[in-house]
Amino acid sequence: MLRRLYHDQPESFAFTPANQEWAEAQITKYPEGRQASAVIPLLWRAQEQEGWVTRPIIETVANMLGMAQIRVLEVASFYFMFQLQPVGSVAHIQVCGTLSCMICGAEDLIAVCKDKIAAKPHQLSEDGRFSWEEVECLGACSNAPMAQIGKDYYEDLTAEGFGKILDELAAGRVPVPGPQNGRYAAEPLSGLTSLTEYDSGKTQYNASAQLAVDLGETVKRIDGTEVPILTPWLDRSDKSGGTAKAKSKAAPKKPTTAKAAAPKGVKSEVKPTSPKSKPAAPEAVVAEKKPRTMTAPRKAGADDLKLISGVGPKLEQTLNDLGFWHFDQIEKWTDDEIAWVDSRLRFKGRITRDDWMAQARILAAGGETEFSKKNKK
Ligand code: FES
Repeated sequence: MLRRLYHDQPESFAFTPANQEWAEAQITKYPEGRQASAVIPLLWRAQEQEGWVTRPIIETVANMLGMAQIRVLEVASFYFMFQLQPVGSVAHIQVCGTLSCMICGAEDLIAVCKDKIAAKPHQLSEDGRFSWEEVECLGACSNAPMAQIGKDYYEDLTAEGFGKILDELAAGRVPVPGPQNGRYAAEPLSGLTSLTEYDSGKTQYNASAQLAVDLGETVKRIDGTEVPILTPWLDRSDKSGGTAKAKSKAAPKKPTTAKAAAPKGVKSEVKPTSPKSKPAAPEAVVAEKKPRTMTAPRKAGADDLKLISGVGPKLEQTLNDLGFWHFDQIEKWTDDEIAWVDSRLRFKGRITRDDWMAQARILAAGGETEFSKKNKK
């Protein structure tokens, strides 16, 4: 199938403040020069925010990661999880049309989509609340035919049952995902033939369906109210009762309100967030103080700041632009000075994660670190 950018594009895109914070934290997962590795999570987060991947999203992500826009477009157009055109505000239905599902009735499910949503895939329903497409095998072949709706799988479907599921969603309810024919999971239709004694402690539904029911987020997009996905290297001192500064790095900033991030029309349809999904606590504010900077390196020449693990050519240039040329400048940064520098770097959290000050202290005293030994020309 030809996947290309949609003909009608918005003017611009910007991450919400909470998503921007999240995206910047993801980028710090990767070593200097490897920020492109964050392209899929950033595209996904942007899609969760907007509903689909627009050209301005591609441009924004490319700029954040220092990538050519065509490289980001290649990723977005390769993976079918990225929607390149607007999708239904309540749900985008993905019907598996591969072998097992096809011989078990996928065509009947597609007929239901055509009847209830739109005649063609990727077309919005008249009220803009639903869209559908046929996708390749989703790995639930033993429960064919099946469809993915939002985050969850609906399996062992019949045309009639599938139609009711769509009606339920249209009415603002979320049917229980998983097998729809009374099966617990993927056991034989005639019942278990082995391991029959190992069913104590079973939850009401199989693990996937139970989790989906507990979370209640089948058709809810990420809106900042989720349990935060932490970046542990930014909160390591949080666990050991460390400084307020480190804590502030670990805590996500103000959660985005559902109103701000939810796609139009979804708000009233989604289930309330489960008790597990409380908004993150507001972040403590860290004071910033500008460290002493220099307008040029000393006469003997600038130190090679790339000998600090975590500083690549781009970061070295940024540090020079900010007025830092020597190890003995970096070794003296205090917490509030680190906060000042950190807020001016593209990859927040890197200074403390890689402990630049300790490295700079050794290098300023003429010593070597493991990293500098390996990287000195
Ligand atoms: Fe449909 Fe595998 S063939 S899930």
